Amino acid sequence: MKHITCIEDLRQLHKRRVPRAFFDYADRGSYTEDTLRANSEDLQQIKFRQRILVDVSRRHLSTTILGEPAAMPLILAPVGLLGMQHGDGEIHACRAAQAAGIPFTQSTMSICSIEDIAAAVDKPFWFQLYVMKDRGFIKSLIERAIAAKCSALVLTVDLQVIGQRHQDIKNGMAVPPEWSLSKLLDFASKPAWVAGVLRGKRRSFGNIVGHVKGTEDLTKLSEWTASQFDTSLNWKDLDWIRSIWPGKLILKGILDVEDAEEAAKTGAQALVVSNHGGRQLDGAPSSIEVLPEIVDAVGSKMEIMFDGGIRSGQDVMRALALGAKSCMIGRAYAYGLGAGGQAGVAKAIDIIAKELTTTMGLCGVNTIAEIDDNVLAI
Ligand SMILES: Cc1cc2nc3c(=O)[nH]c(=O)nc-3n(C[C@H](O)[C@H](O)[C@H](O)COP(=O)(O)O)c2cc1C
Repeated sequence: MKHITCIEDLRQLHKRRVPRAFFDYADRGSYTEDTLRANSEDLQQIKFRQRILVDVSRRHLSTTILGEPAAMPLILAPVGLLGMQHGDGEIHACRAAQAAGIPFTQSTMSICSIEDIAAAVDKPFWFQLYVMKDRGFIKSLIERAIAAKCSALVLTVDLQVIGQRHQDIKNGMAVPPEWSLSKLLDFASKPAWVAGVLRGKRRSFGNIVGHVKGTEDLTKLSEWTASQFDTSLNWKDLDWIRSIWPGKLILKGILDVEDAEEAAKTGAQALVVSNHGGRQLDGAPSSIEVLPEIVDAVGSKMEIMFDGGIRSGQDVMRALALGAKSCMIGRAYAYGLGAGGQAGVAKAIDIIAKELTTTMGLCGVNTIAEIDDNVLAI
């Protein structure tokens, strides 16, 4: 990975190594992709103040996330199907995060199960929950996360209705999954990927298969899953979740001040300002555009996390400057995983950490706590 110097390099390598359908699944967004683009473009608009002749020899990135020490203000976001980007992808990503001293969040829609990851790593990880219609299954999923000693529950609240991603449909990432000659040829041209995925423990949703009757074959499993997203989900359900999950709770997918104020009443410790990486409501504002008003409204009551468009340490610095306490990354590490498994995820984290340290130095700050809007040229 010597010639990989930025996240875009990992993206290009991911594109070469992984079949098109899975690369596009990670890379693309919903409908016109306006919100996907806005996430990155609005971050790039934010300019820094260059400061000189400040002693920046004591720079370090360490911080706390929800009261726990962390090596830097970065979290690996929940990303579905990691095990299809690289065999046992969730385990590799979790190991890379833990080695770097930051949290990893397992998606409900992961390939490895909660138990697979718990058995393969030695520290707690976070679990992300999608609430489905089968509440008995959801209760058992939360109980499995408790048994696996997951240290936070990330409840995703922006996917009760699913935004359409045109490219996934065109690539046959549909219900049921479609096979075509071009897809098979594409797979055949990526033998290292095929071998890695075949060596992996599983090739379908590990948290669901074997836990719900009638989901044994891939078609039935994907039909069950697609029919299970619960459009009736509402604020009252939070009480039910809190009655089962006693630990730290994070609400992910908040983009509106009124919703943030409601979230602050639920007893959740944190919220993630997020538009699901531009994969849901196309035409919604970028995450960075709404971050300051949400910080103003509830930043004294809850820990504010941020995601959407982060591809560099400079982007992390921008979000911290506008009031986020930490940032999640999704695609940035998914590219790393597709490019090179655990080493690729480690590389993505390392690239962002080095960029953040450099940016802090050039803006004249030594610690994460010092970063505020003073570092911005506004
Ligand atoms: C391929 C992919 C799959 C995702 N799957 C999930 C998921 O299962 N659960 C969830 O809460 N968010 C999911 N997300 C959203 C991420 O957690 C995160 O909000 C988003 O990736 C942040 O934007 P970024 O990719 O620009 O960093 C997914 C994102 C991507 C790119």
